[in-house]
Amino acid sequence: MNPSVEDVCRLAPVIPVLIVEDVATAAPLARALCAGGLRALEVTLRTPAALDVIRAMVAAAPDAVVGAGTLMTPEDVRAAKAAGARFGVSPGCTDRVLDAAEAEGLPMLPGVATPGEAMRAAERGLSILKFFPAEANGGAKALGAWASPLAKLRFCPTGGVSLENARDYLKLPNVLCVGGSWVAPKDAVAEGDWARIEALAAEAAALTA
Ligand code: 3PG
Repeated sequence: MNPSVEDVCRLAPVIPVLIVEDVATAAPLARALCAGGLRALEVTLRTPAALDVIRAMVAAAPDAVVGAGTLMTPEDVRAAKAAGARFGVSPGCTDRVLDAAEAEGLPMLPGVATPGEAMRAAERGLSILKFFPAEANGGAKALGAWASPLAKLRFCPTGGVSLENARDYLKLPNVLCVGGSWVAPKDAVAEGDWARIEALAAEAAALTA
């Protein structure tokens, strides 16, 4: 049974956004992030290994809720679901991707950058959206300005979010969690420095508004 998008967003204050090149790093990476307290993991479909990475994480880290990011097409949605993803993330919000996710029963966190896009997503029954790319779109100040007019919508801002600015978002009434890649730096993954990644995850998991 897949969790709802809200369940996914409430697991921890941060969803790690992962670009994983080597499937051999998938299991220890997922375990380190979970050990640090981050259980919702977004594996982006940006590397040839990504679908195998999802399979490996699902097998190796039963506590993790593994999702697939950068879903651009219906084929991506179907491949992600088949690999074991329990939620999907997209940089944008298209009918084709949302239709495919509905058909597959894959909860989706699609990206929006304007109130009009957010309203179109709401017309489709979605109420939890990714605000992307958050910092480039005006950051917490912009998203905070959406809270009153778009009162029924909640967001996971992603893109340029860091340990330094995460709290600015988390304290907004319309933010459930943030997404970011800072918890799994490329060099730490390449070096197999799982202790560092666990520490970064723990620091992120302890973030409060
Ligand atoms: C991305 O575009 O890769 C994600 O939104 C994460 O962005 P970040 O690397 O700025 O955290």
